Parts: sequence; structure tokens; C-alpha cells
Amino acid sequence: MKRAGASLALALVASAACAGCSRSAVPSAPQADAAPRPVALVAPDAAPASADTASAEAGSPEPSSIAADASVEAGATPTPPPPTHGVYLGRKLARPMSHLGAAWLDRAGRDAVQRPSHVLDVAGVRAGARVCDFGAGSGYFTVHLARRVGPTGRVFAVDLQPEMLTLLRQKLTREGLSNVTPVLAKASEPSLPAASVDLVLMVDVYHELERPDLTMAQLRAALAPGGRVVWVEYRAEDPNVSIKPDHKMSLAQIRREAAAVGYRITQVDESLPQQRIVVLAP
Ligand SMILES: C[S@@+](CC[C@H](N)C(=O)[O-])C[C@H]1O[C@@H](n2cnc3c(N)ncnc32)[C@H](O)[C@@H]1O
Repeated sequence: MKRAGASLALALVASAACAGCSRSAVPSAPQADAAPRPVALVAPDAAPASADTASAEAGSPEPSSIAADASVEAGATPTPPPPTHGVYLGRKLARPMSHLGAAWLDRAGRDAVQRPSHVLDVAGVRAGARVCDFGAGSGYFTVHLARRVGPTGRVFAVDLQPEMLTLLRQKLTREGLSNVTPVLAKASEPSLPAASVDLVLMVDVYHELERPDLTMAQLRAALAPGGRVVWVEYRAEDPNVSIKPDHKMSLAQIRREAAAVGYRITQVDESLPQQRIVVLAP
């Protein structure tokens, strides 16, 4: 574990730029923001996204293209092989985005393409909820979550980089928010107590996990009964999304990785211009 932490620290230092941006080191307004939303998007080797939503609403199982679903429904928790040489289930892992690119997270115009209120609607965030902003960065979503859950709720803002949490604390002070607990994560170690949260939101984070298998198992333990995890990821299928390939995910890969750790996809929302919102139940 120490070796994993050290390699991650090295990666963070080396990754001084915004890791997700394809054009310049720390872009202020990446071209991706201006890209038009595809009219209809269907993953090449998967059912249309709308099929997920429909099956979730009807309470029917996931499409049969997810091989591991049988074991999920049988109550077993699959254990996928760990990443090898930076590759996990056929996907090259991305390096975490450095805090030196944090300005990109608070870029002008992000609200229009990110639609944070819609993301929280799909995630089902309500007043009084206990939620985790996992990979919170400088706190863009933390602020929206804190306002939504209100004074009777709580937000745990988790990040690997102390510098990100410093920026996040400054933001919370500016916004006058006191219902947030910043948590400094260690790679591959649990950040939250058992059964402590109703929701874990991961915006543009899942693809950066050094050990997706371990982290998703830890988050399963952190979820209260009925809890869920929400991934928001840039669409790999869309060439107009101008983000480095390692920082995008296809729906087929999302299905593969969710099934591999025994999570069931209950909803896929495709209404954001560049990202898809995936709701997962353990
Ligand atoms: C691209 S940023 C997104 C930040 C934020 N979610 C947002 O949308 O503004 C990804 C963040 O995830 C954090 N991260 C990556 N792997 C992590 C891990 N295993 N545990 C906690 N944070 C992690 C990085 O340090 C970085 O701050």
C-alpha cells in the first residue's frame, strides 16, 4: 500500500497540468465546453441508454449484456482482478488531476455544461441527506451538495490532495457553509465509516481511481441501506468531447466495471452535453 501511495504521489507531482484536458496544460476554457451534444447516443456494444432507465423504472434486471449481473442478483459480490501495469479490465487508468489545474474545475461557463442542479436531481439528493463528494477537488460540487442537503444534512468532501482540500475550505468559508466535513483520503484506504452515507457522488473521478476494485468495495461498506453511488463521466464515444482518452469512459466499459464490482446500474442519464450520469446500487 505504501508503494501504491508513493507511486501516486509521484504521479501527482508529474501531473502538474489538468490531467483531463487535451489541449493546453491548464486550460481556462477547454474546447470541450463548446462541443455540441450528440442528438442520440448509443454505446456500440450495449443497449441504448434509455433501456437502462426504462428497465430501472420497471424494476426489471439489467440488460443481459452484463455478464456479471447473474452473480449480483444472486447476492454474491464479485472480486475483479486488480489493475496490472496501470490497466484495469482493459482500461488504461488515468492519473489524478493535479491541484495545479484546479482553476479548471471552477472555470467560467462550467454551470451551463455541468448543470449541477440536474445532476443532484438525478442523484436524488434531498434535504437532510448524508452525502459524500468523493474526489471533491476544489469543491465545485461540494457547495451545491451542501446547499441541497441543508443544515440538517452533511457532506463529506473526500480528496487525496491536501491542496485541493485547502482550496475547498477557502470556498466553504467564502460561501458561509458549515455542514461539510473535509476528509483527506489515502489511496486504497477507506475514507468513510461503515454505513455512514446515503449517497457517494463521483464527478469526473472514477476513471482516476488507482484501485477501482478496492475503492468501490470500500464505498459499498460506507453506504447506508438503500444508498447509491453516482458516477459522472465524459463520453468516450463522442469525438466532440475534447478530453484526453484516459479521462473519458464508454457506456460499455462503465457497464463492465460496475458489474465487475457487483454494482447494479439503475439509471443512465444522457441529458448533459458531454457527460453521462450513472446511478449505481450496491
Ligand atoms: C478531475 S478532479 C474532479 C473534482 C470534482 N469532482 C469536480 O468535479 O470539480 C478529480 C479529483 O479526484 C481526486 N481523486 C482521484 N483519486 C482519488 C481517490 N482515490 N480518493 C480521493 N480522491 C481522489 C483527485 O485528487 C482530484 O481532486
